[in-house]
Amino acid sequence: MVPLPAQGHLNQLLHLSCLVSAASMPVYYVGSATHIRQAKTRVHGWNPSTIANVHFQEFPPTPFHNPPPDPNQSNKFPSQLLPSLSASIHLRDPVYKFVAQLSSSFRRVVVIYDSLMSYVVQDIGSLQNTESYCFHCIPAFTLYSFHWEAAGRPDDVPAEAAAVLKEIPGLDDCFSPEFDEFSRLQRGSRKISSGDIYNSSRAIEGFYLDFIAERKITGTEKLWAVGPFNPVVFPEKKGSRTRHECLDWLDRQSPNSVIFVSFGTTSSLSNEQVQELAFGLERSKQKFVWVVRDADKGDIFTGQVRKSELPEGFRERVKERGFIVRDWAPQLEILGHPSTAGFMSHCGWNSCIESISMGVPIATWPMHSDQPINAVFVTKVLRIGMEVKDWARRDEVVPSSSVENAVRRLMASEEGDEMRKRAQELGAAVRNSVMEGGSSSKEMDSFITHITR
Ligand SMILES: *[C@@H]1O[C@H](CO)[C@@H](O)[C@H](O)[C@H]1NC(C)=O
Ligand SMILES: *[C@@H]1O[C@H](CO)[C@@H](O)[C@H](O)[C@H]1NC(C)=O
Repeated sequence: MVPLPAQGHLNQLLHLSCLVSAASMPVYYVGSATHIRQAKTRVHGWNPSTIANVHFQEFPPTPFHNPPPDPNQSNKFPSQLLPSLSASIHLRDPVYKFVAQLSSSFRRVVVIYDSLMSYVVQDIGSLQNTESYCFHCIPAFTLYSFHWEAAGRPDDVPAEAAAVLKEIPGLDDCFSPEFDEFSRLQRGSRKISSGDIYNSSRAIEGFYLDFIAERKITGTEKLWAVGPFNPVVFPEKKGSRTRHECLDWLDRQSPNSVIFVSFGTTSSLSNEQVQELAFGLERSKQKFVWVVRDADKGDIFTGQVRKSELPEGFRERVKERGFIVRDWAPQLEILGHPSTAGFMSHCGWNSCIESISMGVPIATWPMHSDQPINAVFVTKVLRIGMEVKDWARRDEVVPSSSVENAVRRLMASEEGDEMRKRAQELGAAVRNSVMEGGSSSKEMDSFITHITR
C-alpha cells in the first residue's frame, strides 16, 4: 500500500490494509516514519489486532520545510502540506527496491497506490510478477467531473448527468499552482494500473461508477467500489477512560438534536471567520459540538499549533447547548451517535462518506480541491444537504446570519427533516452494502479473488 502522506489519504489506505490483511495476505504499508506514525496514532474505531497484522515499512525521511497553516490565506488550499507531498517523490527509488525484493520471494505482489502517488510507483511496471491498482480517495462523480472539465465540458454526456454537471463550479481556486505542478507530475507518469479501486459504494453512486467503467475514463474498465467499510462497531463503552468527553455530553442530549461542526484536517479558519461562526451557532439556538482545531502541518509532531480565539464570554453563554472540542475528535462516533442530526462540513470525501453511512445530512462549506464538487454531489445528486458557504463567494467571510439560517434550516425545519429522512434511508442502504452479500462486500470479495487468482 502506497498512501499519499496527508491524513484523509493515509487513513483510507490504512483501513484498506486492514481489510485486505483480514483475507490472510501479508500487507505492507509504506511511507516515511513520520507519516506512518501519524496514520497509526490517529486510527480509531478498528480492532487493534487487525492493525497488528499490517507490516509497516518505514523509509529514511527526506527533510522538508514544515510551515504552519496560514489562516489568513484567501485560497484555502493547504499550501502548508505541499513541501511534505513534494518530499514524497523521493520514495520512488526505495519503493521500487522494496517491491523488487518482495517480488523475488512471493508468487505475486500487488501494489495499491494512491492516484497521487503515480509518480512514485511508475517503475514497478517492469517487475515480472507484480501488478498494480490505483486507489481513488474521491467519489466517481467528482473524478468524472474533473475529466469532463479538463475535456472542455463536452455535450456528449447522458441526460441523467447533464443537468447536474451544469451545476458544478470550474476549478478556479480549488488548487494551488504548486499543487498543479505536483499533480502534472503524477499524470505524466507511466500508466501501470491494471484496475481502479474506489472508496465509494454502488448504493451511493452506481450510475457514475458504471459510467466511468463503460467509457474507460481512467483507461481501464476494471473497477471495484469497495467502500465505505467504516469500522461499524464502536468499541468505546460508556464510562470507559478513553472515551471522548463529547460522547458523554452527547449521551445527555435528546435524540436528533445536535449539529456537529468540523472542517477536517487541511484548512484553518481566519479569526474573523471563527467569530462569525461562533455568533451564528449561538444565535441559531440549536445544540452543537464544534471542533475548533487548526489544520495539520506536513509533520504533525513538531512545531506549535495555533489556537483560534472564541468570542469573549462565548463559552459561558452557550454552556448549556454547546460542546467545544480542541483536540482530535472521534468524528465517526459523533456522527453515529443518536443525538447527532446534522453535520456542518467542508465536504472532504472522508467526512461525506462517514456522514452518509451514518445517515446524517450535511450543511456544506467547501474549501478546496474536490470539496466544491463533492458539495454539489451531496446537495444536488444525493439531495441530503444544503449550502452554508456558496463557492461562488469563496473570498468572502460567511456572516453569522448565514450560519444561523443554515443551522436552523437543517435542524429545525420541514425541509431539514426531509433531508434527514433521505439521509437516513441512504445510510441504511450503504450500511447494507458493506454487510455480507451487499454490493460493496461482494466487490471486496471479487477484488480479493481477482488478486489471488
Ligand atoms: C491573520 O490576520 C489577523 C488580523 O488581521 C492577525 O491578527 C493575525 O496575526 C494574522 N495571522 C497570521 C498567522 O498571519
Ligand atoms: C473509506 O473512507 C472511510 C471514511 O474515511 C473510511 O472510514 C473507510 O475505512 C474507507 N474505506 C476504505 C476501503 O478505504
